[in-house]
Amino acid sequence: MAEGRAVLVTGSTGGIGTATVGLLRQRGFTVYAGARGRADFGPEVRVLPLDVADPESVAAAAKRVAGEVDGLWAVINNAGVIVQGPLELVPADEWRRQLEVNTIGPASVIREFLPLLRAGGGRIVNVSAATGRVAMPLLSALSASKAGLEAVSNALRLELAPWKIPVVVIEPGTTETEIFTRAGAAADATLQQADPARLKLYRSHLAAYEQAMTRFKPGPVDKVAKTILRAVEARRPKRRYAIAEARTLGAILPSLPAPWRDRLLATATGLNNLKPQAAES
Ligand SMILES: NC(=O)c1ccc[n+]([C@@H]2O[C@H](COP(=O)([O-])OP(=O)(O)OC[C@H]3O[C@@H](n4cnc5c(N)ncnc54)[C@H](OP(=O)(O)O)[C@@H]3O)[C@@H](O)[C@H]2O)c1
Repeated sequence: MAEGRAVLVTGSTGGIGTATVGLLRQRGFTVYAGARGRADFGPEVRVLPLDVADPESVAAAAKRVAGEVDGLWAVINNAGVIVQGPLELVPADEWRRQLEVNTIGPASVIREFLPLLRAGGGRIVNVSAATGRVAMPLLSALSASKAGLEAVSNALRLELAPWKIPVVVIEPGTTETEIFTRAGAAADATLQQADPARLKLYRSHLAAYEQAMTRFKPGPVDKVAKTILRAVEARRPKRRYAIAEARTLGAILPSLPAPWRDRLLATATGLNNLKPQAAES
């Protein structure tokens, strides 16, 4: 099916990225595995140095690929991070990191790789999340970044229609990868720098949230990789492929009246019935 068609996967060193690279390779694609650090997928995969948050790195990556292939069949914008915590405690640098990796990064990748996509009759596959359609408390930065990616996808679909370049959104459910451990470590580092009085205000929020998160049972990465493969191989890909609980979270919650939605989300995240904490308590 793939006949050596070339595809790019960003964030290839992570859970979903690695599984996707493996599957695409098995199906015969020529895979460019974007990685900002060391990566080794064996001789059949082309590792491509790529930090999506660095425009020079993105431009250099596109230049190299253009020197090796005539066109691309798919760009899979998979690289992503989670910045978590109450907005009051998340500094601007962390917000910037969130938006640069999850929203501006994919936009830069698309901009630089579009000539190759046009030449290859290719498609864009953006890995979003249910937070792109339903903003979650204590995840305002992540929600903003994925809502931004959704907006980019919707606008681009129309902009690129004359060239028949499909723009697909993948919406994984909670998936077993290192993303949560990484996010937790970054949040711990941030909270250590936070004003202790302000941090105290959010103790109950943070405890309730941690408890609520244990209820989400992560699914396997293979399920997401297989869905990405479907989007890459489909003759006429759908606009969106939602997986597991993203189907209900992302599809049903946004259609509810706002007061119901707020109540459901507050309950699901354990933030209902919290009493205001005093900084001194
Ligand atoms: N896991 C889930 O439950 C879940 C749910 C919904 C959506 N998603 C989305 O799925 C995608 C993949 O996430 P994952 O769960 O596989 O996470 P992961 O295991 O943490 O992998 C994230 C990948 O993104 C890369 N990355 C981070 N910053 C980068 C940058 N500036 N430039 C290039 N690459 C960068 C990481 O590279 P380094 O190794 O160099 O840091 C890593 O390869 C993300 O977009 C995420 O939002 C995940």
